[in-house]
Amino acid sequence: MPDNLVFPSNHPLVAHKITRIRDKNTDSRTFRELVREISALLTYEATLDLATKSRDVETPLANVVGSEVEEEIGLIPILRAGLGMVEGVWELMPAAKVWHIGLYRDEETLKPVEYYNKLPVEPTVALCLILDPMLATGGSAVATIDLLKNWGVQKVKFVGIIGAPEGIDRLHTEHPDVPIHLGVIDKQLNDVGFIVPGLGDAGDRQFGTA
Ligand code: PRP
Repeated sequence: MPDNLVFPSNHPLVAHKITRIRDKNTDSRTFRELVREISALLTYEATLDLATKSRDVETPLANVVGSEVEEEIGLIPILRAGLGMVEGVWELMPAAKVWHIGLYRDEETLKPVEYYNKLPVEPTVALCLILDPMLATGGSAVATIDLLKNWGVQKVKFVGIIGAPEGIDRLHTEHPDVPIHLGVIDKQLNDVGFIVPGLGDAGDRQFGTA
C-alpha cells in the first residue's frame, strides 16, 4: 500500500469516535453526530498545509501581523453518505463552497453510477476536499476525482472515515497526486464489496433507511 500520500489518523479522539460509530447499537442520531465530529477532526488534519498570507490586524493593545487562509476551498460530498460530513467541515470553514455529486454503487457490478452533478462551468476554488465516509473499492472516489480534474481543479484531497486497502490502492494508482486522509484503514472488502469490519452502510445508518 502506498504510504507517502495516505494519512490514517492516529488521534485518540478519532479512534474513540470511530469505535462508537462501528457499534451496531449506535442509533442514527448519535451516528450523525459522530460523523460530524469525526469529519471536523479529519479536516483539521487534512488542512495542515493550507497556504496562508499575512494580514495586519489591530488588537486592543497593538498592531500585529497575523495570517489568513489564502486558498478558496470547495467541499464535494458524495451523495448520500458524504452529506453528513459537510456540517462538521463547515464548522471549521464556514465560507467553503459545497457542490454535491450524486453517485450510487450498482449492487451487482459495484461500479459507480452518476445521478447528480451541478458543478458550475468553471471551478472557482483552488482546492477541493472530497467527502465520503467510506472508501471501499475506490470506484466512487476515482469517478469523482475524474470529474473534478476534467472540471479544471488542480488540487484535490480525499477525506474519508474508513478505507479498505483495495480502495486506497486503486485511488492511489489512478490518481497518485491525491492525498488520502482517513480515520482508519480496515482489513479488507468482503465478497459483496463491504468494508470489514467497517460500520455497515454509512448512508443507511445516517438516514435511518437500513
Ligand atoms: C457507499 C459509500 C461510498 C461508496 C463506496 O455509497 O458511501 O460512496 O459506497 O464504495 P466504493 O469505494 O466501492 O465506490 P452507496 O453507493 O452505498 O450510496 P449511498 O451513499 O447513497 O448509501
